[in-house]
Amino acid sequence: MSIGIIGGSGLYEIDGLTINNEITLSTPYSAPSSTYKIGTLGGIELVFLPRHGVPHAIPPHKVNYRANIWGFKSLGVDKIIAVNAVGGISKDLAPGTIVLQDQIIDMTSGRLHTFYDAEKVVHIDFTNPYCPEMRGLCIAAAAAISLPVRTAATYICVNGPRLETASEIRFFSQNGADIVGMTAMPETSLARELEICVLGISVVTNYAAGISENKLTATEVVDKMRNSTGLIKKLLKAFIPTVTETRSCPCKEALKDAGL
Ligand code: HPA
Repeated sequence: MSIGIIGGSGLYEIDGLTINNEITLSTPYSAPSSTYKIGTLGGIELVFLPRHGVPHAIPPHKVNYRANIWGFKSLGVDKIIAVNAVGGISKDLAPGTIVLQDQIIDMTSGRLHTFYDAEKVVHIDFTNPYCPEMRGLCIAAAAAISLPVRTAATYICVNGPRLETASEIRFFSQNGADIVGMTAMPETSLARELEICVLGISVVTNYAAGISENKLTATEVVDKMRNSTGLIKKLLKAFIPTVTETRSCPCKEALKDAGL
């Protein structure tokens, strides 16, 4: 078993992770965002990849999601913890809130979003985009350390790199979105196509456009994420040791009956 962690804006390394190896991969889909750092946290093996590269140079619409996910698979990772920075659409999702999202609305376009665009026709089930088993364990871990987290939320994924208009956010809100970000897709569905479980942890870094009067800035997003890494690390430390080797979730057989 190996657990992968994808770090988002402001999370470029996991402090406390003892690095044993750093691997540069080339994949059939070209280069991933960075080298994969292999290490241990509390004795458990982890593989870390910063989604936007180091330094932060790859914008969300240019991340090579296929290479990143294929790279994890080739390193034996079967569970990914994806950390994202998001804007809070619901008023009760104030900056600093940690969210374990359970649903996605995909508004992206023009991104290379599948591994199955050549010989095989495959339609994976994506009714529940996040691994129910990992979500359950993480919710229990947060409760065990009394860390307040929002345990369900719909993440609407936009292309970016611009932020949204106030009307777009109002529209998203009316259609059930709780948080907005630029990176969960196609990352999450690509992992499902390779039968990798995904847990999505978001940090609300700002109120989305029009929810607060303040002008939104990219620096605010990264600063808030940096300030929240202590809480993320605390959650990961409690959660990761509870992850079991065996998987009893549907993610592990996502390709069963998915091909034509
Ligand atoms: N919108 C889109 N993506 C984001 C935001 C936002 O307000 N904050 C962090 N990522």
